[in-house]
Amino acid sequence: MKNLKVTGLTCGAILFLSAAVSATEVPQPQNENGIITAEEWSAIYPEIYESLRMNADNNYRVDYLKQDSYLSNVYEGYGFAKDYTSAVGHDYCLDDVKNTERPHPTANCLTCKTPDFTKLVNDMGVEAYLYDFDETWAQMNENVSCYNCHENQEANEDGNLVVTHSYVTKALGDEMAQMDPATLACGQCHIEYYFQPDTKETSMPYNSVAAMAPEAILAYYDEIGFSDWTQESTGTSMLKAQHPEMETFLGEGSIHAKMGLNCASCHMGTAVSEEGNTYVSHRFQSPLDSPELLETCAVCHKDTDMTKKVHDLQDEITGRETEVGEKLSALKDALAGAVADGSRSEEELNELRSLYRSAQWYWDFCYVENSEGAHNSALARKCLDTSESLIDDAMGKLGA
Ligand code: HEC
Ligand code: HEC
Ligand code: HEC
Ligand code: HEC
Repeated sequence: MKNLKVTGLTCGAILFLSAAVSATEVPQPQNENGIITAEEWSAIYPEIYESLRMNADNNYRVDYLKQDSYLSNVYEGYGFAKDYTSAVGHDYCLDDVKNTERPHPTANCLTCKTPDFTKLVNDMGVEAYLYDFDETWAQMNENVSCYNCHENQEANEDGNLVVTHSYVTKALGDEMAQMDPATLACGQCHIEYYFQPDTKETSMPYNSVAAMAPEAILAYYDEIGFSDWTQESTGTSMLKAQHPEMETFLGEGSIHAKMGLNCASCHMGTAVSEEGNTYVSHRFQSPLDSPELLETCAVCHKDTDMTKKVHDLQDEITGRETEVGEKLSALKDALAGAVADGSRSEEELNELRSLYRSAQWYWDFCYVENSEGAHNSALARKCLDTSESLIDDAMGKLGA
């Protein structure tokens, strides 16, 4: 079996051949990108494959710009003011990144969308980030898939997880040995990152778990003089936080990380197939949408109504997000006014800009985190309170 040359055979023949492969034999990649696709694994792991396909069912979208009308003002001058909808399941990654109205000239935007790009970076080095977006996109075959989390390796009972995204390895290095592999697997993409201005290399703004905190990340960006964009009306070098799920989950105030839970504990349940096989579901979903996952909460939360517990917390946090977001928007207008009327010295304006940049960062760090407070409400509150006091400080100085 091993020596069979299958290149050039039809799809049906490949499926037939892999079905005959014994459960311990790893299929060979059939495409020029060199990754074993989910479909190629499906003969060995049919249930896991089917569950991975179910990520297409996570298709509920919120248009944040419509929901939170102050957003486009805060993000003025940046792509997120044009197009910003909530995350959906992994199956939509490639289409979404192609169709977004946010500018995406180079291939770096593919970093977290497809294993084909992960492999390209691993093969070609960081210069791949500068490749033309459209040309590279056309060569990509599939959305987030087995290779991202398992490389081309047979997954054994422990899941045999491999960190394939090189910027994570570069940033965390030896510390990864002490980290939970099933948190790192998701954290490869569900993190804060930035692109190096010249090379567009995807990079992380810290090199240890201890330095994942929002204040440490801000200090790092300030030190290297990094900004995602310059907002013309206020003349401010702005930051855009990404989706710091791993930082929030591992950060100060997180209860579950200390208790030994990982991302898979709450987002990947154990399921039983029709044939009675137990397998790990690879439908990555909200624990509230899965009876199996909710049962795992009960081990510690006993009789608590988890849906209510989570929703109460999210209502509180998103309510505060709106409150602080609207104040941030007002600060932006007041600062733009001061810039326009020439009433302040450049020194005064720079002090105000710095407060505004920091306030936006802390608010954003909470706003863009996808659990809306559920992962770590203490950190969410702290970020919003910090943002608010920076806004109040700046508004006081503006006499607004
Ligand atoms: C986004 C990351 C991710 C992707 C994509 C992914 N896996 Fe996994 N896989 C995991 C994690 C995390 C675990 C460990 C889960 C746990 O500890 O409960 C796991 C566990 C497994 C296991 C061990 C299951 C067991 O019984 O213990 C197998 C086998 C496996 N994956 C195969 C696959 C295959 C095949 C694909 C593609 C069709 C795939 N995985 C795609 C993250 C991923
Ligand atoms: C290779 C990058 C990558 C990895 C690894 C990854 N994700 Fe994602 N994830 C994404 C992207 C990108 C999106 C948003 C897709 C979109 O909106 O088009 C997303 C979206 C999601 C969503 C949103 C679904 C919804 O309906 O709101 C969940 C839940 C999720 N991921 C969980 C996980 C978990 C759990 C893991 C680890 C087992 C993981 N992801 C690993 C890139 C990744
Ligand atoms: C203790 C359980 C728990 C752990 C551990 C956990 N999460 Fe979550 N996560 C949640 C809850 C609860 C929500 C909110 C779900 C909702 O709004 O329906 C959530 C929401 C999310 C979302 C948004 C999905 C959606 O459907 O809205 C993503 C993405 C996500 N988590 C990723 C991660 C990642 C990545 C990790 C690990 C770094 C992680 N989670 C660890 C419980 C957990
Ligand atoms: C290993 C035990 C354990 C498991 C399993 C567990 N939790 Fe928790 N969780 C706790 C403890 C302890 C607290 C702190 C006390 C409290 O708020 O109930 C907590 C707090 C929370 C909070 C509040 C977090 C915050 O930052 O304010 C949420 C939300 C939550 N859990 C959701 C879940 C969900 C959803 C699941 C299942 C998918 C789950 N938990 C599974 C132990 C656990």
